[in-house]
Amino acid sequence: MAGPAAPPPSPATLWDPLVLPRLTLPHRVVRAATYDNLATPDGYPTAAQGELLAALACGGAGTIITGFAYVSRQGRALQGGQAGIDHDDKIAPWARVLEQVRRAEAGTKVLLQIAHTGRQTTAGATGRPVVGAGPVRCTYFLSPVRPLTEREIGGVVRSFVAAAERAWRAGFDGVQVHAAHGYLIHQFLSPRTNRRRDAYGADPLRLLREIVEGIRARTPLAILLKLSAGEDGRGGLTLDRVVDYARAIDAWEVDALEISYGTMEIPLNIIRGAVPADVSLRYNPLFRRWGRVAIALFRRFLLPWYKKRFLPFQEMYNVDAAYRIARAVRTPVLVTGGIRTGAQIAALVADRGLAGATLARPFIREPDFVARLRADPGRRSTCLSCNLCTVMCDSPYPLRCWMDAPADLRREALGE
Ligand SMILES: Cc1cc2nc3c(=O)[nH]c(=O)nc-3n(C[C@H](O)[C@H](O)[C@H](O)COP(=O)(O)O)c2cc1C
Repeated sequence: MAGPAAPPPSPATLWDPLVLPRLTLPHRVVRAATYDNLATPDGYPTAAQGELLAALACGGAGTIITGFAYVSRQGRALQGGQAGIDHDDKIAPWARVLEQVRRAEAGTKVLLQIAHTGRQTTAGATGRPVVGAGPVRCTYFLSPVRPLTEREIGGVVRSFVAAAERAWRAGFDGVQVHAAHGYLIHQFLSPRTNRRRDAYGADPLRLLREIVEGIRARTPLAILLKLSAGEDGRGGLTLDRVVDYARAIDAWEVDALEISYGTMEIPLNIIRGAVPADVSLRYNPLFRRWGRVAIALFRRFLLPWYKKRFLPFQEMYNVDAAYRIARAVRTPVLVTGGIRTGAQIAALVADRGLAGATLARPFIREPDFVARLRADPGRRSTCLSCNLCTVMCDSPYPLRCWMDAPADLRREALGE
């Protein structure tokens, strides 16, 4: 006779390691990719970047995903302090950043987020024509877009693979391929921007698959994918479509998916919360080219209408979408967006079967957020999602929480 059935495995807790095929993360609270404005104008990472990441490591972050690093000059963003991984001579500076992190806390896992902006940039920022999946302008950047030829797509794949090889040589534990937020890979996934009649139109996942296969063939790195589970406006990515994509991606055996939302058409719908319009109008280069009169008219007549397009902030705003995707796949699913308490993370891991949570703003506010959570599991992040950190990405100031910035700095930088 068979003995009594084994008890069901107890659900994971937020402090359990997350065992992925190629990497074990120390626990389930991950620092989400966060642009920090700390690289040199040529995209070389700096010691200041190392200090920022080392502070996170010291504070118990466990796993850190860097801000988006461009894989080629053509894939650069508008922000001047963005780091790149587009050339072999960036390997050594990245290795020095990683030394700083591991000196601070040896067990910290660090993943480089690799990205190509596609249509979400300007020729002024890249010094190259703006390219994309199809000839559809982004209503935010307004750059005319030239669709990539099939031959050029081969070059994009090679630049992602070369970037991952450099990341491996620098000592990263993995890469996160940025397939979300309307950047180039997202442009192939979304029917609004992928108007192609070739093999990359017939199979919107083809570009991403070729990148993943290339990285797999050339490096042993863990591969995470960041995906938007939907986007604003009509005719774009829907959750149903992304669930189908996730089912197909399941066969590729990537290490994990991270679920986010949106595109740069309405950037604040990716990162929800307050709308600090005055500060944004002060620094955003796209608004600044309008001139004073146009800005004054915009502020007076169009801003109230514009603000209506913003989705309200709700804590855990991507969790339902992530949960639907997680139920459809075996690949571990992380979720980002408005996660603010240890109890929320514990619940999404134990009750919803998600692999973990990635947080950005709580770590900007408190780099030692994880250490504080360990000391007080009932703790709530003191981040108020005021989004000054978000809109200040367009300023010359490095990433910081502006809530407790000294008064003179706030006056100088925010115009208070
Ligand atoms: C200042 C700032 C910079 C960001 N930079 C990136 C980035 O480089 N790559 C990316 O995928 N997401 C980026 N994000 C989005 C975050 O990774 C995260 O998905 C989003 O902020 C929601 O999480 P949160 O509510 O914990 O902030 C950024 C967010 C902020 C606030």
